[in-house]
Formats: sequence, structure tokens, C-alpha cells
Amino acid sequence: MKHPWKPSYLRNQGVLTPAQRRILREHWSSYGITLDYGTPIDWAEQFGRNAPMLFDIGFGRGESLVSVAKARPDWNIVGVEVHRPGIAWALRRVMAENLTNIRLIRGDILWLLTDFVTSPIISEMRIFFPEPWPRAPERRLVRTDTLETFANASVPGAVWRFATDDSTYAAHAKNAFNSVMYLEPIDEETRCPDRPITVYESKGQQAGRTITDLQYRYNG
Ligand SMILES: C[S@@+](CC[C@H](N)C(=O)[O-])C[C@H]1O[C@@H](n2cnc3c(N)ncnc32)[C@H](O)[C@@H]1O
Repeated sequence: MKHPWKPSYLRNQGVLTPAQRRILREHWSSYGITLDYGTPIDWAEQFGRNAPMLFDIGFGRGESLVSVAKARPDWNIVGVEVHRPGIAWALRRVMAENLTNIRLIRGDILWLLTDFVTSPIISEMRIFFPEPWPRAPERRLVRTDTLETFANASVPGAVWRFATDDSTYAAHAKNAFNSVMYLEPIDEETRCPDRPITVYESKGQQAGRTITDLQYRYNG
């Protein structure tokens, strides 16, 4: 289905190595949710239980995803990513840790929430280092219109966490979050407690950039 927004990710989805291809072929069916048009996702069936749902959006290589899944065995953790090599990396980590509370989805989060989610489901969402479009406002993942999509998919009391090493993106995101009704800042600008340092944060630190964490509760 055609959607109006410009993608917040690079079109070039990278080339899989033979090992990554094999991991995806052999293990996707255990951890991946393959989207079927016209069929909303049955989360309880996918996880085999009902539990609060945490979405790690654009999980990259899966460091934060795996870390939060280990820390919260009582939560269902959903990783959403478009970059296939990243998904293969994450899948390898999930298997190495023998985690059973993670499912991976390949696709655009906006597309997922719009076309496959029929009722509020997000108890927590995380968007960490969502570049690569820090300077093209219409392509940023966090915008006033996209936040409406996230709000519609959030349960009352849902926690939203965001981090970036780009000061222009941080200012833009703060404005966008401030425009959302029923969203209140919590622990603003303290570091998300269980966010491991990923390659993206390290690069920002090495370049001398300031890391900004923004955290909110949605009371809608
Ligand atoms: C710079 S990486 C950060 C990865 C990870 N969150 C971290 O902190 O290390 C941003 C990731 O977000 C993904 N991404 C961007 N827009 C997305 C979208 N609309 N839906 C799903 N993933 C997206 C990109 O493919 C990319 O892998």
C-alpha cells in the first residue's frame, strides 16, 4: 500500500554476507514475524502469552534490544528494523542469549503501526539514534505527524524514550514531543538506565558530540 510519508531510512538496505543469509534462512521462522497484508498481528499468539509490550524501533545491530530483553523477562520485546544485515546481527545475538521474549519485524514502523496494529499496544517504545536524516526534517522518524501514529498505538501510561547525538535533531524532537497532547516529560535528559553504548553513540562521543536522552509518559 502507498503511504504519504518519506522514508526515515536509507533505501540501500545493505548486502547480506552468506553467513547472515544462512542465519535468516534457518532462524527467522523462530523469532521473526512475517507480515501478511490484511491480517493484523496477533501478539498473544506470536509470543505465546500476554505481557506488556516494548518496541525497540530501528534497533540497528540489536545491542539495546537484547539488553532490555534480558533485563525484562516479563515483557514482550518487539524489534522493528528495515536494515537486513542489522536484523541478521540481532538474530545471532538473540540466539546466542537463548531469549524467548523477543520477536523481530522487518519493515517501517509507521507502516507496521498503520496497517498491522488495530488497537493500542505499546507500553514502552525506544527510538535510539534514529539518524541518518538529522538535517532533513521531513525524513526524520520523530515528527509531529509520526508522533500521532505512535500516540494512537500507545496504551495509557506508555513510556517513550529517545536518544540522539545530533543537537539539531534533539531540539526538533523536543519540540515535536512537546506538541503531543497528554505527553509529560519524565526523568528528562537523564540517560535511559539500561541503554548500552552502541557503535552510534561511541561515534558521537568520539566526535565530541553531546548525547541527549528524552523520556516521556503518554497519559492519553
Ligand atoms: C543509526 S541506527 C541506530 C541503531 C540503534 N538504535 C542504536 O542505537 O545503535 C538507526 C536505525 O533505524 C532504522 N530505521 C530508520 N527508520 C526506521 C523506520 N521507519 N522503521 C524501522 N527502522 C527504521 C535504520 O534502518 C537504522 O538501522
